[in-house]
Amino acid sequence: MNAFIGKSEKRVDGRLKVTGRAQYAGDFHLPGQLYGVIVSSTAGLGEVTSIDSAAVESMPGIVAVISHVNAPKLAYKPHKAFIDPQVGERLHMFQDGGIRFYGQPVAVVVADTLDHAERGAQALSIRYDRKRPKVDLRDPSLVTLVPEAMGEEASKSRGDVRQAIAGVVTVDNEYDIARENHTPIETHATLASWSGDKLTLWTKSQFVVNEQAEIAAIFDIDPANVQVNSPFIGGAFGTSLRTWPHVTVAAIAAKMTGKPVKVTLSRKQTFYTTGHRPLTHQRVRLSATPEGRLTHVEHEGTAETSRYEQYAEALVSATQYMYSCPNLSTHYHLQPCDTSTPTYMRGPGEASGIFAIESAMDELAYKLGMDPIALRKANEPTVDEGSGLPFSSRSLVQCYEAGAKRFGWEKRSSEPASMKDGRLMVGWGMASGTYPVWFAPASARARITPAGAFEVEAAASDMGPGTYTSITQVAAETLGVPMNAVTFRLGQSDFPPTPPHGGSMTMASVGSGVRVACQGLQAELLKLATTNMSSPFAGAPVEELYWETGGLRRRGKRQQLGYRQLAALNPTSDPITVTATGSRGEEASKYSMHAFGAVFVEVAIDPDVYTMQVRRMVGAYGAGRIINPRLATSQCVGGMIGGMGMALMESTVLDRRDGRPINAHMADYLVPVNLDIGNIQVHFLDEEDVHVNSLGVKGLGEISLVGVAPAIANAIYHATGKRVRHLPIRIENLLHEA
Ligand code: MOS
Repeated sequence: MNAFIGKSEKRVDGRLKVTGRAQYAGDFHLPGQLYGVIVSSTAGLGEVTSIDSAAVESMPGIVAVISHVNAPKLAYKPHKAFIDPQVGERLHMFQDGGIRFYGQPVAVVVADTLDHAERGAQALSIRYDRKRPKVDLRDPSLVTLVPEAMGEEASKSRGDVRQAIAGVVTVDNEYDIARENHTPIETHATLASWSGDKLTLWTKSQFVVNEQAEIAAIFDIDPANVQVNSPFIGGAFGTSLRTWPHVTVAAIAAKMTGKPVKVTLSRKQTFYTTGHRPLTHQRVRLSATPEGRLTHVEHEGTAETSRYEQYAEALVSATQYMYSCPNLSTHYHLQPCDTSTPTYMRGPGEASGIFAIESAMDELAYKLGMDPIALRKANEPTVDEGSGLPFSSRSLVQCYEAGAKRFGWEKRSSEPASMKDGRLMVGWGMASGTYPVWFAPASARARITPAGAFEVEAAASDMGPGTYTSITQVAAETLGVPMNAVTFRLGQSDFPPTPPHGGSMTMASVGSGVRVACQGLQAELLKLATTNMSSPFAGAPVEELYWETGGLRRRGKRQQLGYRQLAALNPTSDPITVTATGSRGEEASKYSMHAFGAVFVEVAIDPDVYTMQVRRMVGAYGAGRIINPRLATSQCVGGMIGGMGMALMESTVLDRRDGRPINAHMADYLVPVNLDIGNIQVHFLDEEDVHVNSLGVKGLGEISLVGVAPAIANAIYHATGKRVRHLPIRIENLLHEA
């Protein structure tokens, strides 16, 4: 019986958000705080030769100009979380004058007001010994490398890839995806405040316990002396997983001035040092029998990284398990260039790799004269052929069917450029999506107050999907109390540790932790009920007791011991508190665990000027148990819009002369707005997966973006007969391409 799990509960923090009382990092203020404005390098490579601080220091309100010239030498002790690139070293702040990429922080100007700090930052004259950065992946002098941390995993093959090509239908094409930046509405901000050796940070973070550990390593202080608070996040999508340079800069500035300092990145600066989806180049070769059975798949992908860190992601990994094919190889390479380190951006790896594979599958379907769904169904595997493991569950075929039905796919005419609406060309396209089920142990604390109220705490984050709400649902469900009897708090490093709020693992991981903490609390209360002499159940055999909505019952007895009564049995006045950590068994080594989805898209295109409109999208997902359909739908709508941005709009363009992102603002870095979006339908399969974790949750955030871009590209081909193999697809591409 589920009282709350699976129900569309309203956001518990909705009122706080719409009334403006939810406090985001930049909303925090401390008495006497100063403002720091980072000065970003206008050289793309080279060295700072001089900084004219004196001129700025005499300007109104300026408190300090901090750079490598006067900043303290910091410990930068080794620190790597699993979200950090495993090879390389993070950028060190103000430790030398070297410039590795355009926009690198070179100084921070600290003043009494934001206005004064901005004026000072603008006036700061910096001279550089400028070198020409290499930022173009096609630059022949750039060398690719095998990501060291991946070793043999970077290249995997099965069967005989070389011989399998002959005598069958093949496609062999290259695919390019532009660099993308996350650009959430809330820009990054950090307020840093020292009190002696203790540092408190109010910051935007998807991983507060790591930010705590990392800042402690940088400053060589006890992590217990670093407190990180991040109660609300206005969108992140991966950009707040790592601890970026501005956090350290705020802490340095606060240390040097002896005052709290707030550093907020400008919109432009969020394109410099807070990660991006790496630009990728891919090649896919497919061969199939005339009946559409894949005989050979080859997928090579190269992604950019920085010179100082090897950021690696799962670009080609999904190809290993997506379809059945005896002869298959995948290769992954990195190409270091003079940019900042890329990072996870929603659907990291899979979103890019699946664009290439699902475009190629569409091309193959046309070559074979097959329906795109029929081709995919003909290659549906029974096990994960990459690992040899059975799938914990795999509902991809059901996703095709559910999505196709809702979309009306059977009315599609198969010929390209054959569907019209008046003068508009109409195209229907589809693609598959997938994303792994991640899980990591998360801890949580549950307590009951003397008044019988529940407080649950975990260090987790909520960047928008509704973690506050969905975790409250799990706690209320476990305890058998109303939603409003539970207060769930997150976003503090002094709460029990949780894994990063990313990789779509929060619901599974934190949910499991909260569940065991609540169960542990019940066990404590049960012990009190049977041992406390004033309890009506004193001395009762444990097997006669059971939990029911609102409290504890004894078999065959009428009386219920409510939570408030149970709390009153506590001999001390302290609340009863239990901390526990969620885990999962050996299942992960026995099963291949992935969410699957299918995306269907209708585009309408003007035949004269090729303006494109995505009229409707249908996404069908097999993602295990859905804790809150309302929130999950909202999450998927957001992800699908992100996929649409990837397909048609998003592209960070670098000036080849100096590596400057020339469209580092919302006027020229395009993302879909309401007028672009059309109708979006989300459908969840009723998928039960007992292997993935105790909640049966697979995660949704990432997969909702995966598969959207190829579905749109495939729809555009269907509308026009023009195949565009790079993203974003723009009007000029359709005008020019054959
Ligand atoms: Mo998401 S890219 O795992 O924040």
